Amino acid sequence: MSYDVLVVGGGLAGLTAALRLPASYRVAVLAKGESADGATPYAQGGVSAALDTADSVEAHVEDTLSAGAGLSDPATARFIAEGAQDAVEWLLDQDVPFSRTAPGNGTDNLHLHREGGHSHRRVVHTNDATGLAIAQRLHDAVCKRDNIDLLEDRYAIDIITGARLGERVNRCYGAYAFNSRSDQVELLSAPFVVIATGGASMVYLYSTSPYAATGDGIAMAWRAGCRVANLEFNQFHPTCLYHPQDRSFLISEAVRGEGGRLVLPDGARFMHRFDERGELAPRDIVARAIDHEMKRHGIDCVYLDIRHKGEDFIREHFPTIHGRCMKLGLDMAKEPLPVVPAAHYTCGGVVTDLSGRTDVPGLYAVGETTYSGLHGANRLASNSLLECLVMGTAAARDIGATTPVRRGEALPPWDESRVTDSDEQVMVTHNWSELRRAMWNYVGIVRTDRRLERAARRTALLTGEIREYYSHFRVSGDLIELRNLVEVADLMVQCALRRRESRGLHYTLDFPDPDPAFAAPTILVPTRPRPFSHLRGD
Ligand code: FAD
Ligand code: SIN
Repeated sequence: MSYDVLVVGGGLAGLTAALRLPASYRVAVLAKGESADGATPYAQGGVSAALDTADSVEAHVEDTLSAGAGLSDPATARFIAEGAQDAVEWLLDQDVPFSRTAPGNGTDNLHLHREGGHSHRRVVHTNDATGLAIAQRLHDAVCKRDNIDLLEDRYAIDIITGARLGERVNRCYGAYAFNSRSDQVELLSAPFVVIATGGASMVYLYSTSPYAATGDGIAMAWRAGCRVANLEFNQFHPTCLYHPQDRSFLISEAVRGEGGRLVLPDGARFMHRFDERGELAPRDIVARAIDHEMKRHGIDCVYLDIRHKGEDFIREHFPTIHGRCMKLGLDMAKEPLPVVPAAHYTCGGVVTDLSGRTDVPGLYAVGETTYSGLHGANRLASNSLLECLVMGTAAARDIGATTPVRRGEALPPWDESRVTDSDEQVMVTHNWSELRRAMWNYVGIVRTDRRLERAARRTALLTGEIREYYSHFRVSGDLIELRNLVEVADLMVQCALRRRESRGLHYTLDFPDPDPAFAAPTILVPTRPRPFSHLRGD
C-alpha cells in the first residue's frame, strides 16, 4: 500500500491535515476504530477564537500565556491565535452548524461562550456538542474525496525510518499497521507521515477521554527518534460527572462559564478561598481546589450547581449534558451535579515546529499528540481544537511545498516468523489496570518525589514485562496500546522527576512554589533508534 501521505489519526487534527492537502496527493487516514473514536467528537465547549468586537488576538495570546504559567512559547501562541479566524471560516465552509445569536452566515453573529481563564467571551460552539458537529462534517467531507482512503480498524505500530532499517539518514518512509479486521500487519509506505493520534489520558485510571487516548503517537515518535517535551503537564478537568454508571462523562467548563457554582455537600461555595476568579480560575487551580476540599472533608465528590439559571436556559445551552444526566436520573435544573476531577488532556508531546515538522525528516505531528509550545504548563480551555485546526493546516501546507523523498529499495514487510499466538491475554489486561492505577495514585493532581519514584519503579517493572511479552507474541490492538501506554507513562514520570518546582499542572508538595530556574520546557532527547529486530520494534 503506497501513498503520498499517511495520516495516522482520524480526529480533528488528522482530518484537517488530510482535507487541506493538495487534492492531487494520494492520502490514507488511519484510525484504530471508527475515525470518530478519538477525543474530537467528545468536545463540548468549542473552539476559541477572538471574534468579538471587544476582543483581540492580543488578548487571546495574553490569556494563553497566562494559563501556560510562563512556559508557553509566545510565537506559537500568536501563530495559533492569529489562525483562529481562518480556522472558523474553514469550518463554516464545511457546513459546521455553529450556534448563532441571530440567523446569518460568516463569523459576525456567532454565539460565543465564556470559559475559565478567558478574559472575553471567545468560544465558538454548537450548543454543548461542538466536537460531534465538527467530526461529522469533516468525516462527510473526507468520504467525498476520491484522493483520500479512510482506513479504519488500523493500529499503527511503528514508524519506518532510515535508522530503523540500518541506514545512516533517519528519514521517514511509512509505517506498519495492525488491521484488526484481518488480524494481519500491513506495510504502508509514504514519504510523509503525519502523526495525529491524540493524547494519552488513558494512562490514568479516571479520565474524560475515550479509549483511543493511549499516547500511541508520542511513543511511536519517541521510538523513531523524535524529542518529546512537557509530559509532566497533564490536565485534570475539574468537573467530570461522578456517577457509578458513567465515570467519564464531562460536565463542560461552559457550565461554570455561564454561572455554575462549585459547592460542598452543605451548599457552601469554596472557590473564592483559592482564587479571586472563583469558578472561572484556570483548570489547574480549580482541580487542585476540589482535590483539596475532597481530602479535607473526606468526601467522594463536590457539586456543580446551576439551578439558579432556570430550566429553559439549561435546556437551551446544555441540551446534551442535560439529556445525558436525565438518563442517569439527575436533573441539573433541580439538583446540583456530583463532580470530580479526571485526567483530560496531555499538554506535552512530540516536539514540532510551526509547520508540524518533527526531528525526523518526512515525519510530522499535529494536535494533542504534540508539544508545539502553545500550552506550556497548562492549556487554556478550548485552545486544543483550535491548535488541531491551525497546525493541521500548517502541516498540510508544508508537505505540499516539500519535495518527497522515496526509498529506492522496497520496504521490508512485517516479519512474524519468530512469534506465536498469545496464551496469556490476562497479562495484558492486568498490566493495563496496574499501570493506570499507579499513575493515578503517584503521578496525579498532587505529587511528591517519593510518589514519583514509586511510579518510576512500577513503570520500569511493567516496561520489562511488556517488552518481553511483545517480543514473543503476535500483536493485538490491546498489546500495541499497552506497549505505548507504558512507554508514555515512563516519559511522563521522567519529565515530572526533572521538574523540581510547582508550576501550572505540575504540583509537588516537595517544591510547592515556582522556581525561575525551571522556567523552560522539559525536553527529553532519545538515543539514536536501533534497527528493528526482526522488524518488530523490540
Ligand atoms: P483525537 O480526536 O483524539 O483523534 C485521535 C485519532 O487517532 C483517533 O482517530 C484514533 O483512532 C487515532 N489513533 C490513535 N492511535 C492510533 C494508532 N496507533 N493507529 C491509528 N490511529 C490511531 N478541546 C477544545 O479545544 N474544546 C473543547 O470543548 C474540548 N472538549 C473536550 C471534551 C472532552 C470530553 C475531551 C476528552 C477533550 C476535550 N477537548 C476539548 C480536547 C480536544 O477534544 C482534543 O484535544 C482534540 O479533539 C484532539 O484531537 P486530535 O485530532 O489530536 O485527536
Ligand atoms: C469543556 O467543555 O469543558 C472542555 C473544554 C476543553 O477541554 O477545552
